Amino acid sequence: MFVLETLVLFLLVTIVTYYVVFRWKRQRLYELADKLPGHDGFTLWESIYMTLTVHRKDYIPIVLSYIKDEAPLTKLWLLKHLLVMTKDANVINKIFNSPYTVDKPELFYDAFLVKRGLIAINGDDQKVHRKIFTKSFTPKVLQTFPVIFDEKAKQIMDMLNSHVNCGEFEFMDYAGSYSFDALGTTNLNYDGKSFFKSDMYHAFEKFSPVMVDILPYLVLGFTRKQLRYFPIGKRIDEIFNVFDKYMYDIIDNNHKHPCQDEHKLINVLMDPKNKFDDDDIRDEFITMMIGAFETSTKIISSALMMLGIHKNVQEKLINEINEIYSQELDTPTITVDFLNKFQYLEAVIKETMRLFTVAPILSRQASQDVEIDGYLIPKGTAFLLSIDAMHKDEKYWGQDAHLFRPERFLETLLYPHAYAPFSGGRRMCIGYRYAMLSMKVFIINFLKTYKVNCSTKFDELETEMTMTLNFVKGYKVSIEQSNK
Ligand code: HEM
Repeated sequence: MFVLETLVLFLLVTIVTYYVVFRWKRQRLYELADKLPGHDGFTLWESIYMTLTVHRKDYIPIVLSYIKDEAPLTKLWLLKHLLVMTKDANVINKIFNSPYTVDKPELFYDAFLVKRGLIAINGDDQKVHRKIFTKSFTPKVLQTFPVIFDEKAKQIMDMLNSHVNCGEFEFMDYAGSYSFDALGTTNLNYDGKSFFKSDMYHAFEKFSPVMVDILPYLVLGFTRKQLRYFPIGKRIDEIFNVFDKYMYDIIDNNHKHPCQDEHKLINVLMDPKNKFDDDDIRDEFITMMIGAFETSTKIISSALMMLGIHKNVQEKLINEINEIYSQELDTPTITVDFLNKFQYLEAVIKETMRLFTVAPILSRQASQDVEIDGYLIPKGTAFLLSIDAMHKDEKYWGQDAHLFRPERFLETLLYPHAYAPFSGGRRMCIGYRYAMLSMKVFIINFLKTYKVNCSTKFDELETEMTMTLNFVKGYKVSIEQSNK
């Protein structure tokens, strides 16, 4: 009996000591939470219940629904994790530009499936990787890409011919193949092999939902290794088997037949001076493909749906394209300067990225104590930035914020800092110029060949959050031959 009592007492003392030390170490976090408006969080049981019952498309909106309109910073406890959330443009820009909030949160990124890729790494490693990547995205290197985009876009235009006057079809498959094929040629020395409906393409389609489905597991504290005991672990393994097959094939191929262009990302990454091993390179390749595929593909597809729904915008854009081409004596070479002439096209793409922000929430973590909007934010605190809410806030965009009106980007923006589809600061998208050029080339080629229709009504578009924003019913359009 005495032994049992001693044991129980010992256990109790241990638990209380652990709790006191745990609380004491995090005291400043609790002080911050006391000052911030917001949600006091879910209990363990509520979190487990949510994990088991809430649909993927509702998980992030539920979290974001706790952001208060009237307060620039809002708190939300997710078990032991304090999230500081905002949709305020000033605060978001402060977080983008502070040297102490460059890191990605351990909560979301510790188990990130390509943890060594540029999008996930932190601290000095991020600086080093970013510097290496930059060599492949300089203005001089970008000058060489538009002709490649043009060639790849023309191949897709030929493939689309089979859909002329044949009803609606999923456009993502074509835009996705374009993004992959273009990236393969511009950066990976993987020319000539199309990703159209390939295993790799389908693996990427499955990857995005997985990245959201693992979120509750991460909040509950499961590690990447422990995930293998759940069905989600099996899904991850299946996807990565396909990724690895392609990636190591690209790497082997480049070992055997090194590409001559020293600026091509594959060469930059495989340069022995950079001391990347094959696993590092594989993580960087997958990162690049996530960066280029999910994003440009969805923006191209959404933009075409918008043109199919807003016929007046489509007509205006066709006129711009015809007018610019009519000023050329011969068939123009597609260069950066030539693409810069398409201002209305740029406005259409920007408006699409505003309304359908492909990375609707971004996250950061304080690497040191930092003062934001008068609050002292302790080291280690995670931030959630709702770019989507900022992009739709009437305070910044006026009463027609919910409408698709590209013209707003030809007018003077009252709050230009309330627009960040490519993020900002030291973690801003490294491929943003690349993306704008590639999307422009695709849409120009498309509208010179086809017209697009879309039977979905603008008000009926339903979106969900996977790793990126997604149209629930897909990106369905029909096409007809253009008049020219
Ligand atoms: C419409 C097209 C695109 C959009 C909207 C977009 C958006 C973004 C955003 C929002 C981030 C920052 C994520 C964060 O702050 O947490 C990002 C990062 C990144 N993007 Fe893009 N992206 C696009 C196209 C591309 C392309 C074409 C590439 C490569 C060719 C690319 C490569 C990357 C990489 C490597 C990063 C990580 C940068 C870092 O953390 O230092 N993206 N992108």
